[in-house]
Order: sequence, then C-alpha cells, then structure tokens
Amino acid sequence: MNYQWYPGHMTKAKRMMQENIKLIDLVIELVDARIPLSSRNPDIEELGKNKARLILLNKADLADASCNQAWMTYFKERGIHATEVNSKTGAGIKSIQAAVQEACKEKIERDRKRGILNRPIRAMVVGIPNVGKSTFINAFAGKACAKTGNKPGVTKGKQWIRLGKGLELLDTPGILWPKFEDQQTGMRLAFIGSMNDEILHIEELAVSLIAFLRKEYAGALQKRYEIEEEGDDFSILTEICKKRRCFLKGEEPDLRKAASMLMEEFRSGKLGRITLERPQ
Ligand code: G4P
Repeated sequence: MNYQWYPGHMTKAKRMMQENIKLIDLVIELVDARIPLSSRNPDIEELGKNKARLILLNKADLADASCNQAWMTYFKERGIHATEVNSKTGAGIKSIQAAVQEACKEKIERDRKRGILNRPIRAMVVGIPNVGKSTFINAFAGKACAKTGNKPGVTKGKQWIRLGKGLELLDTPGILWPKFEDQQTGMRLAFIGSMNDEILHIEELAVSLIAFLRKEYAGALQKRYEIEEEGDDFSILTEICKKRRCFLKGEEPDLRKAASMLMEEFRSGKLGRITLERPQ
C-alpha cells in the first residue's frame, strides 16, 4: 500500500510559519505521544533554529506510560526539553510554565545581562494537523487568559494570549506538514488517523495494525475481542468481524466495516495505551 498525504496549502502554511517564527522566542512543538518521531515535521529543525524549543508529547493518555518516559529522556538527551500532556483533560498542563522557563533559561539570562527585565517570552504552538494544537491552546490558555491585542511592531492581526506575566502565546498555531518520505512513517500516521481513511485501503491498514499488536502488545486483541490470537493476521480480522457481527447480506463478513471499527477503537484508546514507535 502506498501511504501518502496530500497537503492542500503546504506552501502557504510554510510561508506563514516562517513569518510568525520571526516574532517568537520559543517554539512549542506538539507531537503525538504514540509516534513522537513520525509525527514531527522534517523541517522543524531548520525552522526552529536559534529558538528555544519545547516538545510536548500530546495525547499521552493514549500512549504507553513507560514509553512516554523513555521519549522524554530521549529528547532531553538531545538537548530539547520535553514533557507529556493530555490536552483533552488538562493533565500535565500545570507543569508547562516551569518547562517553558527551563527551556528559555538562556534567553532570560541573556536579557538579564543586557539589563532587560521582565520581557515576556513569546511562544507559538506548532504541529501537524490533528495533533491537538487547538485543544492544547484552549487547555493551556484556559478561561483566565487575556488577549493582549495588537501591539506596535507586531504584524497586524496577530493576537497574543497573555499567560501570567512571563509568557505570551500566539493564538493561532503553526500548521506543519507531516513527513511522507517513507512507508513506515506513512503507515504510522495512517494508524493514528492522520491521513484521510478514504484514500487508504482500510482492510490492509487494519491487518497491518493487527500484525503490529500481536508482536508488540500480545494479548490486547484477545482481551478486547475475546478471540484467540492465532493463525494469520487476516484471519484475525475475520474473527473480529464475526465476533462483532459485522455482516453483509446473507451473513457474508463485512471486513471493511470490521476494519474501520478496529481502527476507531485503537485510535480512541479502547485497546489500551499503545505506543507505535519506541526510541532506538
Ligand atoms: P489540531 O488543532 O492540531 O488540528 O487538533 P485538535 O485540537 O483539533 O485535536 C484533534 C483531535 O485530537 C480532537 O479530537 C481532540 O479532542 C483530540 N485530542 C487533542 N488532544 C488530546 C489528548 O491529549 N488526548 C486525547 N485522547 N485526545 C486529544 P476529535 O475527535 O476531532 O474531537 P472530539 O471527539 O474530542 O470532540
């Protein structure tokens, strides 16, 4: 199967990012905790160079807790502060202010030496579509936030959300395009639903997920669907299909329906907390 992503406005999004990034001190990069590398943008290193950086492992609730820890260590070892969050419930959000201060330590120190005191850190949230940028901004900004409005020297129309006295966040996130350079990355993005299922062969995708789960999370399918994890991966999809009574007319298995259901249940965490890629 050929996994591809067809970005509609990639050039425009990139131009906007390049423009906005000039205005900020800190890039808050959201990645999906289930695929922290595959959900990163290939150009982020270049775009974010000379900026303080913070990585948020979002949707941490859907990923394996021990893998979340391992990924945070992985990024920290590479000089990028990383922390886990669940933007949907707000878990982990409270620790972000401290992480921001830590990530911007050098800038704060530089300012201090130049006699600039209390200049707020300006940040923007970036990430690929559906990673949770809007949900995060809402959770982080909460109700207490105050919009600072337009200020001289800031491109007209930009809104900054003031978060405490030390931080201002651009209210519109930067949309980054995902990687689509290799098959495995594409497949992982498809697993979490970052690609339009319409352009995918959903049964093939489900069979690939079954293969992964049997290998890395043995017992997860058995527990959810009360089936034996025996035989080939395709026959397991057929078993799930029968168990969930996904039939066409005349009791013919509706594999497409079963595959869609499996993908939906995986994506919403019903199969458990599952991480699709681990640090090397
Ligand atoms: P975007 O701006 O980056 O495109 O993403 P957005 O905030 O729209 O979030 C995409 C989906 O991810 C939403 O689900 C949102 O609720 C969900 N989401 C965001 N953060 C988290 C998280 O930390 N954990 C979990 N489990 N989900 C998260 P949706 O299905 O589009 O909407 P809804 O069903 O939640 O209403």
